[in-house]
Amino acid sequence: MRVLVTGGAGYIGSHTTLALLEKGHEVLVVDDLSNSSQESLRRVAQLTGRTPGFVEANVRDEKAMDAAFADFQPEAVIHFAGWKAVGESTEIPLTYYRENLGSTFTLLEAMAKHGCKTIVFSSSATVYGDISEPPFTEDFPTGATSPYGRTKLMIEQILADVAAADPELRVGVLRYFNPIGAHESGRIGEDPKGIPNNLLPFVAQVAAGRREKLMVFGDDYPTPDGTGTRDYIHVVDLADGHLAALDQLTEHDGYHVWNLGTGQPNSVLDIVHAFEAASGVTIPYEVVPRRAGDTASSYADVSLAQQELGWSAKKTVADACADTYRWQSANPNGFAGA
Ligand code: NAD
Ligand code: WQD
Repeated sequence: MRVLVTGGAGYIGSHTTLALLEKGHEVLVVDDLSNSSQESLRRVAQLTGRTPGFVEANVRDEKAMDAAFADFQPEAVIHFAGWKAVGESTEIPLTYYRENLGSTFTLLEAMAKHGCKTIVFSSSATVYGDISEPPFTEDFPTGATSPYGRTKLMIEQILADVAAADPELRVGVLRYFNPIGAHESGRIGEDPKGIPNNLLPFVAQVAAGRREKLMVFGDDYPTPDGTGTRDYIHVVDLADGHLAALDQLTEHDGYHVWNLGTGQPNSVLDIVHAFEAASGVTIPYEVVPRRAGDTASSYADVSLAQQELGWSAKKTVADACADTYRWQSANPNGFAGA
């Protein structure tokens, strides 16, 4: 299949591009490199022996998208491109609405013009907000608590409306829980700019000596050890979930939502201890007050993805910590050191 991958140079996109190439698909990546480096795709090419096509453009660029669709004639699209930092989205909300919604409009219009009927979209467990108690099933009420989360919810609604208007459309909305880990080669991984917001990249930088200690955001949550629990899903499993969704959509039209997680909650301290075991490095930490907007616990009910996609996570948190440590040790400055 010819698959156009927006945001394919980024963290999840590069791992998914690798998985697509390994399965024999043709890939064209469209990425403006606003939060990534083309080095990730050079490494994907080295690892797979196949070079994905690449267009450096903003997905909002109508001319560039029209040309990409005309040249490549994609049969399906995976839409990763977007801005993703929750805290930043409260400071520059307009940028988040412009980039995340604008890119989706341009993409859907190019698909309509060129007769491409299949799209897989990167949504997030953040759409479950703080309304219900986990485990979350896909039919739970949604309600985001940040501009970033609202862009994801709005895009889900837009996709549902567009699918309702075109019975030939095949839409897979994937709600990722907390993606972690790296490819087992240690050649591609997560490369955050500046101080990492997310737990695993921060822990990895403490292990590498780039940060003095981890701040644990609260130990007074109603969880087994008092620290927040999340559903950490290995990025390689997540990438495979996209291939499973594409397979499923070739047989089923309409609008579908699938959670991609492990179904298992792990606490902040579980992650610290798993990383220490994987790396042999002690992670100094200090408990500080809760981070605004955090919830006590978030994890998936994964039965729908199991039943409908035949997909479930195979890798463990220990695997993810070992892979992250390998990536971090081999690339202490991420792709910038290449
Ligand atoms: P990432 O920042 O590594 O990848 C996103 C890529 O999109 C980057 O390469 C960036 O340069 C590109 N991009 C952004 N806006 C663009 C635009 N308008 N036009 C062209 N390219 C653009 O992030 P990621 O972690 O790989 O996330 C991929 C997707 O998954 C995002 O939509 C994100 O919201 C979603 N998601 C991520 C997580 C997570 O924790 N990483 C969780 C749930 C959902
Ligand atoms: C995980 C746990 C923190 C950092 C975010 C987005 C979500 C999705 C995934 C995109 C929490 C604790 C963290 C630190 C800590 N992204 N923590 N010290 O907040 O669950 O989800 O990323 O869609 O939308 O909100 O992930 O990795 O930031 O935090 O104690 O330095 O680690 O309190 O319990 P989160 P996270």
